[in-house]
Amino acid sequence: MEKILVRGGSKLHGSVEISGMKNAALPVIMAAMLVPDECIIENLPAIDDVATSLEILRRMGADVTMLTKTSVKVNAKNFRPGESEFDLVKRIRASYYLLGAELGRFGRANVGYPGGCDFGSRPIDQHIKGFEALGAKVDVEGGYIIATTSSPLVGKKIHLDGIPSVGATVNIMLAAVMAQGTTTIENAAREPHIVDLANFLNTCGADISGAGTSTVRIRGVKQLHGCTYSIIPDMIEAGTYMIAAAAAGGSVTVTNLIPKHMEAVTAKLIEMGVGIEEGDDWIKVERTDKLKKVNVKTMPYPGFPTDVHPQMSVLLCLSEGVSFMTESVFDNRFRYIDELRRMGADVKVDGKTAIFEEIEGLSGAKVTAVDLRGGAAVIIAGLTAAGVTEVDNIQLIERGYDDIVQKLKDIGADISKKVTPEPEALPKAN
Ligand code: EPZ
Repeated sequence: MEKILVRGGSKLHGSVEISGMKNAALPVIMAAMLVPDECIIENLPAIDDVATSLEILRRMGADVTMLTKTSVKVNAKNFRPGESEFDLVKRIRASYYLLGAELGRFGRANVGYPGGCDFGSRPIDQHIKGFEALGAKVDVEGGYIIATTSSPLVGKKIHLDGIPSVGATVNIMLAAVMAQGTTTIENAAREPHIVDLANFLNTCGADISGAGTSTVRIRGVKQLHGCTYSIIPDMIEAGTYMIAAAAAGGSVTVTNLIPKHMEAVTAKLIEMGVGIEEGDDWIKVERTDKLKKVNVKTMPYPGFPTDVHPQMSVLLCLSEGVSFMTESVFDNRFRYIDELRRMGADVKVDGKTAIFEEIEGLSGAKVTAVDLRGGAAVIIAGLTAAGVTEVDNIQLIERGYDDIVQKLKDIGADISKKVTPEPEALPKAN
């Protein structure tokens, strides 16, 4: 079993380059399934979730050829709908984008119920509402979601309920892109990766406008053609390294990012007294003084991103006075808190808010990655903790972060990967 070891105390210096955005790459890869032609997708992050997504498409008949570590040629001309493999699909939540893509191209889809990080309930009622509005019949049977339509999908006005769902916005765009007439998604998610998906599809000949606003309009087209497209930089990865620098202290320039996407994170770091300098595609983070207390509330974009919440909580552990983290996007994203408590954090969770009391500092401990961003959080905590922190379950981290150990090592972190023997099997009860 592999673990990540972090010895705290080293300040970070130098620059770290951000990879392509996981949550843009996954929808774009699934969208390539709509195109019976050659698509070249560049600036992919070299992460397990991308490899799994490409393998799902390959096993369903798409030609998939890696051109470099971060670029791929996909031709879905011979793609066979309804044959996604359950054990691959359940590994990543984004596999449910197959529903919209298969429905959009073939009028039928049959996909295993989605997995993904456990933040309490993660329903897909808004996805189903969108598919049914377009004219599809959707059933959930034996752990599979089956969507069918006997006639071409017809564009409709669809209003998403509650929090603007990223997944539902993506899935409805994929289903509507070749529907008859125009589909309007109201209360749509505004995340940069929605814009990236719309840009990819428009480069393939789709007719989508309003992506990035709460109203996305998709005018159905007959067919899509191949294209070459480069994925945007990962704003969540960028936020993770900005926070790592603020936690460990020192001076780090995070490069190949879009400062506009980072505004909510940058504003909170400045509020905590962290030094920020911005360029066209880089942000320099310097921290010399004690972190000031702060009140953070996650919101859909352009608010503070929920995917940076666990990482940000490490700074709240270290801030003077009392700080607050309110999670308003997911039911329960606080499972990582127990791991920070093992390291000495003084935190109470009251409903959707975690309350962080001032402490002297964190101490190294054996901890686990409870999910992707919770794993990043305990690594950042290890950078500042006294002694050594040992992180297990690191496959959850590597599915979403491209080369995180090497990138941190390159800016001065005392971090390494260690292979440890599998724990001895417990004696069987006789
Ligand atoms: C995407 O998840 C991301 N995953 C998540 O990133 C991210 O946290 C989330 O968007 C919010 O930004 C990928 O892109 C692969 P949602 P998704 O649908 O689409 C509720 C990471 O760390 N909801 O926007 O599943 C839902 O329960 C991962 O990279 C419904 O009620 O998120 C949640 O409370 C973690 N019904 C809220 O909306 C629905 O039909 C937002 O969920 C759909 C969602």
